[in-house]
Amino acid sequence: MNKQTKIEALTQAATPFGTTEGYMPGFGNDFETEALPGALPQGMNSPQRCNYGLYGEQLTGTAFTAPSHQNERTWCYRIRPSVKHTHRFKKIDLPYWVSAPNVDPDVISLGQYRWDAVPHSDEKLTWLTGMRTMTTAGDVNTQVGMASHIYLVNESMVDDYFYSADSELLVVPQQGRLRFSTELGIIDLEPQEIAVIPRGLVYRVEVIEEPARGFVCENYGQKFELPGRGPIGANCMANRRDFKTPVAAFEDRDAPSTVTVKWCGQFHTTEIDHSPLDVVAWHGNYAPVKYDLKTYCPVGAILFDHPDPSIFTVLTAPSGVPGTANIDFVLFRERWMVMEDTFRPPWYHKNVMSEMMGNIYGQYDAKPQGFVPGGTSLHNMMLPHGPDREAFDKASNSELKPEKLDNTMSFMFETRFPQHLTAFAAKEAPLQDDYIDCWKTIEKKFDGTPGLK
Ligand SMILES: [Fe+2]
Repeated sequence: MNKQTKIEALTQAATPFGTTEGYMPGFGNDFETEALPGALPQGMNSPQRCNYGLYGEQLTGTAFTAPSHQNERTWCYRIRPSVKHTHRFKKIDLPYWVSAPNVDPDVISLGQYRWDAVPHSDEKLTWLTGMRTMTTAGDVNTQVGMASHIYLVNESMVDDYFYSADSELLVVPQQGRLRFSTELGIIDLEPQEIAVIPRGLVYRVEVIEEPARGFVCENYGQKFELPGRGPIGANCMANRRDFKTPVAAFEDRDAPSTVTVKWCGQFHTTEIDHSPLDVVAWHGNYAPVKYDLKTYCPVGAILFDHPDPSIFTVLTAPSGVPGTANIDFVLFRERWMVMEDTFRPPWYHKNVMSEMMGNIYGQYDAKPQGFVPGGTSLHNMMLPHGPDREAFDKASNSELKPEKLDNTMSFMFETRFPQHLTAFAAKEAPLQDDYIDCWKTIEKKFDGTPGLK
């Protein structure tokens, strides 16, 4: 046995794509992937001629001159350059997909609101026609703020593609399964997972299991990133390895096709004669990603009191003010409650940020009734909220033994900007008119005498 043979005998090859087939692990990694051998240039980005006759093209997600630790871009090697994937534009109307600023004079956004799940109908709805904007915040033209949407999808996009120049989309499924066939690969998504689709990325959404319903946070501003953990250290909360970016996948398909572009809050279509999903190989750190919310490792109080809900932040999109997010995506999932002598549900509060919540499944501890899977609630800037009477009484009087909060997964899109209701949210969506009454029966217990009451 010569020396070389001995080394081989001791070595076992790693899988090329990580441990989840079709995906590469990591958040914001510098990935590289090719669907055909040798399609990805090595050692340089822009060779004089690319293998297979591919065209090299850069997609930038940050300004060229962004600080290097924030700089994001991806080099694509594709069958046609993107200039072949758009032609002349025609404006179209998607009246239910609304962008900020959208302050409807006939709608009162000041108030605590809650909605049942928006029901499905027989109407055929795609990712584009099935998007229902609930709230908008900030201004899409100045790239600050967000919109929250609910999607109802029961029809696949066929020869129909989309990209948003306005925003990255954080997708939170609640029902059904969807496939996002993107320029950079394929993401299959189901409830208890989330996906982030970057600004400018072309994709098509197909229905794997219908009907599909879920929530979308449309982020006009700086990209989502992982929150700093501070003294928590290098582990727990959302861990980088649990984020999955798809491997390269391409279509070489000629067919009359439509590309819809969202740009400055308006929608436009353009007609082409082929699939734009033609990236054979790519490398870079600007790419779609999905994440299994069941891998989120919550950290919390282990003796008394509880920290602010920011302890449950999965992703944060910064604003220009340090520590004040354009959007925080916060997850309330199963966890143990062990705090002694503590009122365990969320306390009563008023918040300078505005909070759009959604229920993925189960029951939320501050609202045992009424906040249903698929449902949403809005607690806007500086509007008080907190546990209802039932939750307060139970939490004030129950024996405080260690207790598992089970069968629960809710989330919050929290933004520094006030959220304005759309006409759909105020007039068409199943608004619970009596939500405000959930605090009505809370009684005054103070009578001037000391003692716990
Ligand atoms: Fe709150």
